[in-house]
Amino acid sequence: MGELLLAGTTHYPLMLYSDEFMTSQMERHWKNPKLPEYWKDQKNWPAPMQEEYGLNGSNGLASARAHRARLVSAFRKVREEIDAFKPDFVLIWGDDQYENFHEDLVPPFSVYICDKYETQPYHKRRMMPDGREAFNVWGEDIDHRFTHKGHPEGAKFLATRLLEMGHAMPYAYKTLHFQGLPHAFLNTLLFLDYDRKGFDYPVIPFHVNCYGSSFVKNRGGSPLQAVEGAEPDPPAPSAKLCFDVGAATARALKDSKYRAVIMGSSSWSHAFLVGKHHMLWPDIDADRARYEELAAGKTHLWKDLTMKQIEDAGQQELLNWICLGGALSELGCKPRIIDFVQTYIFNSSKCFAVAKSA
Ligand SMILES: [Fe+2]
Repeated sequence: MGELLLAGTTHYPLMLYSDEFMTSQMERHWKNPKLPEYWKDQKNWPAPMQEEYGLNGSNGLASARAHRARLVSAFRKVREEIDAFKPDFVLIWGDDQYENFHEDLVPPFSVYICDKYETQPYHKRRMMPDGREAFNVWGEDIDHRFTHKGHPEGAKFLATRLLEMGHAMPYAYKTLHFQGLPHAFLNTLLFLDYDRKGFDYPVIPFHVNCYGSSFVKNRGGSPLQAVEGAEPDPPAPSAKLCFDVGAATARALKDSKYRAVIMGSSSWSHAFLVGKHHMLWPDIDADRARYEELAAGKTHLWKDLTMKQIEDAGQQELLNWICLGGALSELGCKPRIIDFVQTYIFNSSKCFAVAKSA
């Protein structure tokens, strides 16, 4: 029988860079020329958002420091759990944001069956609004290359079992349009190794098409990147489909020879996807509702979320966690919450949780 450690994390890209950069990205949305004047005035923001931005009179910087400190601490705790568990591999459910998949193929899911992944994440330069270049917090060179081991045997086993169980599961032996690991997988691994002691566990990246109806239309990102006049794309896999795939994955790995970590990685509601908030702050109420369900061990409720609810709340990336929710539910696990980091100004609230199969 297999042994499973289940975990939920985030891959919040701004954590790669300085606190100042984290803050400046928020200002970029707030100063967006298309934003109605009313919302440019801080006095019209929700009170907790004003408070978070104004903390210590630092225009978000003090809050950025505190936000990062909690994320780093939570990642260290998840890493301790992984080290103590000593897995054969770490499977990660993560989204692709027009990185490996483009117009020629957008599968709902894909299991990567590769020996290794070599990624150079800093090649695409990031700039501060004032034109200065933003550097990664580790001081790593622009051409720094990360090599992560894959686990082709485990990935092939899983794709095979999912297909045998009736899930039409795509898989790939090589990447298509992107060299290495797309952001959701790589960022998760970089943060799990925040102290840079190395991360030698083999990885199985498991793609989930979270962005669905806006995947090509918005180039996998914010509506601010929308292609002029483009129509919506076909939807993301439904919550039920993600939940069922997550449950089947847990079943397949529980009935295997492996010790596996299975992890959903994403922040929840994303401010840049929440039209009703003018893309300024995330849907806090929807995230709190999901948090209460998770903490109460009621992730089975997630399979009934409609795509309309998910998109209205800007919770597209929650689909990664809904796969995890299916696994938790299948194994009858109530997770231990490590932290739930709520924020109005850093794009998205982030949750960390772990559970072990009985
Ligand atoms: Fe993402």
